[in-house]
Amino acid sequence: MPETSAPEKLSSFRLAGWSAERLDQIEQALSGWVACPTAAPAPAGLGDAMRYAVLDGGKRLRPLLVMAACEAVGGNPQAALRAACAVELIHAYSLVHDDMPCMDNDVLRRGKPTVHVKFGEAQALLAGDALQALAFEFLTPDDGSVDAATQAGLCRMLASAAGFQGMAGGQAIDLASIGLPLNSAQLHEMHRLKTGALLQASVMMGASCGPASTAVRKALHDYGAAIGLAFQVVDDILDVTADSATLGKTAGKDAAQDKPTFVSLMGLQASKDYAQQLLARALEGVDRLETGGLENTEALRALADMLVNRHH
Ligand code: IPE
Ligand code: IPE
Ligand code: MG
Ligand code: MG
Ligand code: MG
Repeated sequence: MPETSAPEKLSSFRLAGWSAERLDQIEQALSGWVACPTAAPAPAGLGDAMRYAVLDGGKRLRPLLVMAACEAVGGNPQAALRAACAVELIHAYSLVHDDMPCMDNDVLRRGKPTVHVKFGEAQALLAGDALQALAFEFLTPDDGSVDAATQAGLCRMLASAAGFQGMAGGQAIDLASIGLPLNSAQLHEMHRLKTGALLQASVMMGASCGPASTAVRKALHDYGAAIGLAFQVVDDILDVTADSATLGKTAGKDAAQDKPTFVSLMGLQASKDYAQQLLARALEGVDRLETGGLENTEALRALADMLVNRHH
C-alpha cells in the first residue's frame, strides 16, 4: 500500500509498519474463524467458497479503520479485532454478490476468478449468505471478552450499515440507475449508501469499542462520512484510469455497463479534485480529535491519505 502525498503530520508515522502488525492479526483471526476446516468445517464445499471469498486478498481497509478508531479512543482490542473481522465479512459477502451475473457480472476479483465462476452461482449465493450471518456471530462472543452492551451496539451499527439503509439499499439504487444520468444529489446518496455506510460504520464501530465523548463521536462520524464518499469517488476514478492487472478486477466496467459515476457526472479531473477536498474534510475531523485531547490519531490520518491516494 503506497504512502503518498504525506502532509507534515504523517512524516513521523509509518503506516506500513502499523498496518503490517494489524493485518497479521486480522489474517490469522479470519483464517481461524471462517469455516476453518479443522475447527469448524462447513458442509458440502460451502467452506471452500467462503474461505476463497475472504482469505488471501483485499486491502482490508475496513478492518484497519476499525482498529485505528479503537486505538484513537483507547478501546478494547479484542472487541476491535472481532468488529474488524465482522466488517470484512460483510464487505466480502457484498463483493461476492456484486460480482454475480444478476448484478455486475464480473469474472475477476482480487486477482482471482470470482466466486460464482469458481464454485457456481448457487454456492456463491450461499457463501455470501453464510458470511453475512457469521459476521454477527463474530460480534457476539460468549467468553466474557466483550461486554453485552458493546456487543449489542456493534451488531446494531453493522446491521444498519449493511441493510436497506446502507449497502443493500445503495446496491438497489445502483442497479436501478443503469443508463440513467443521476444528478449530483442522487449520486451522492447512492455512494453514501452502497459504500460510504460500511466504511463509516467501520470507524464508528471502532470508536464504540471504547469510551468516546459526543464531540469525539461527531468528529469520527464526519471523518467516516468524508472517507466513505471519497472511497467510492476513487473507485470510480480507478475504474477509468487503472488497468485490470493493477486493480485485480476488470477495469472499465462502469462505462461498459453505463453506470452513473462521479467520473460520468463531473469528469475525471473534477472527480480527482473532489476526492482531495474530501480528504481535507476527513483530516479536519482528525484535527478536531487532536484538539479534543486524543493522541493516537496518526493511523486515522494516514489511512485517509492512503485511501484517497491509492492506486488499486
Ligand atoms: C471494492 O472495495 C468495492 C467497493 C466497495 C467499491 P475495496 O477496494 O475495498 O476492495 P478490496 O477489499 O480491497 O478487494
Ligand atoms: C460495489 O461497487 C459496492 C459493493 C460491493 C457494495 P462496485 O460495483 O463499483 O465495486 P467494484 O468496482 O465491482 O469493486
Ligand atoms: Mg456494483
Ligand atoms: Mg462491481
Ligand atoms: Mg467500482
